[in-house]
Amino acid sequence: MHERDRARRGRGLSVPKKNAEKAIEFLKASGLLDTALAIIKDGERVVLPLRSEGAKILETLLSIFEADLVEAEFAEKQRRPRSIREALSTTLPQAILEKLPSSYDIVGDIALIHLPRGVEQYMSLIGEAIMRVNPSVKVVLGEAGVVEGVFRLRRLVHLAGQRRTTTTHRENGCVFQVDLSKSYFSPRLSGERMRIAALAGRGETVADMFAGVGPFSITIAKHSGAKVYAAELNPDAYSLLVKNIELNKVRGLVRPLHGDCKTVFLQNQVRADRVVMNYPSDPYSFLESATKILKDEATMHVYGFAEEAEAWRRDLEMRVSSLGLACRADVRVLREVSPRRRLMVADIAVCV
Ligand SMILES: C[S@@+](CC[C@H](N)C(=O)[O-])C[C@H]1O[C@@H](n2cnc3c(N)ncnc32)[C@H](O)[C@@H]1O
Repeated sequence: MHERDRARRGRGLSVPKKNAEKAIEFLKASGLLDTALAIIKDGERVVLPLRSEGAKILETLLSIFEADLVEAEFAEKQRRPRSIREALSTTLPQAILEKLPSSYDIVGDIALIHLPRGVEQYMSLIGEAIMRVNPSVKVVLGEAGVVEGVFRLRRLVHLAGQRRTTTTHRENGCVFQVDLSKSYFSPRLSGERMRIAALAGRGETVADMFAGVGPFSITIAKHSGAKVYAAELNPDAYSLLVKNIELNKVRGLVRPLHGDCKTVFLQNQVRADRVVMNYPSDPYSFLESATKILKDEATMHVYGFAEEAEAWRRDLEMRVSSLGLACRADVRVLREVSPRRRLMVADIAVCV
């Protein structure tokens, strides 16, 4: 028998619908309501499941609520587990439970979990557990290894649910079509995208050097009204970027550019008030190209991995100064990636 169909015979209080709310409140306060069982709706009456103890007080209830004491078949309520560890607590060995990450990303209706070594044989159980914890998740993908290559792609394994890597993700009032196997996307920087959008002004020109499927470019355009040039090298990410510009109705504000950001902005004579450099694995190779497209006074938002914020701030100021520009950097730590590696962003005000 399916868990959802399980039922238990027990005593219930049958009350007219009009008294149901008050009767539930009363039964809860006096500890008489059996909250593990579901309430039965029976035409103009509802039947409230009762715990077996507390018989005396019932006499009073019957007269207050014009109630009858009945015998009924109550369905047992399903309680959803709150975490994958809880969902798998009786299924997996403790040593495996301890290896499971405590969090995972949700992109649209896809859950994306980083798979630690040693859990390979339990992959589908882990996937199904994630779907029980999050009923809106329809696909679970495991991420084996780290984000790789110039296009920053993940090696994905299917764990549970439908077999697809495409989904539609919503954040900050924008909508993004994503294909996790062909293009980079992470929901983790959604707050950061809004922060940059709030800094950008209407009438500004922004250059998004590593646009991906467009989350920075589109969020900035939609919320600030700035004109954004969005460069992307990966043809699959670029075609999703073009689709997402249409979907979000920002065609007049975001201009997609397919190609290498080192050359494509110069070819299109872009001069920017603000440059977004979301390529944290190697921002340094692109600093010089970024400075070539800046207006006389401009801001660069550089994302990178570093251990210590102040040391990274000084290092970036030195690198930009060595390109002949006066600058002042502010650094904020966005998240811990490992004990000695943090994702940071530097807002660098530059004077050419
Ligand atoms: C870390 S992802 C960031 C994507 C996007 N900003 C986001 O938040 O989802 C970096 C992106 O830069 C693209 N890329 C790498 N090298 C590039 C280059 N030289 N010119 C333009 N895009 C590049 C990759 O294909 C990838 O989509």
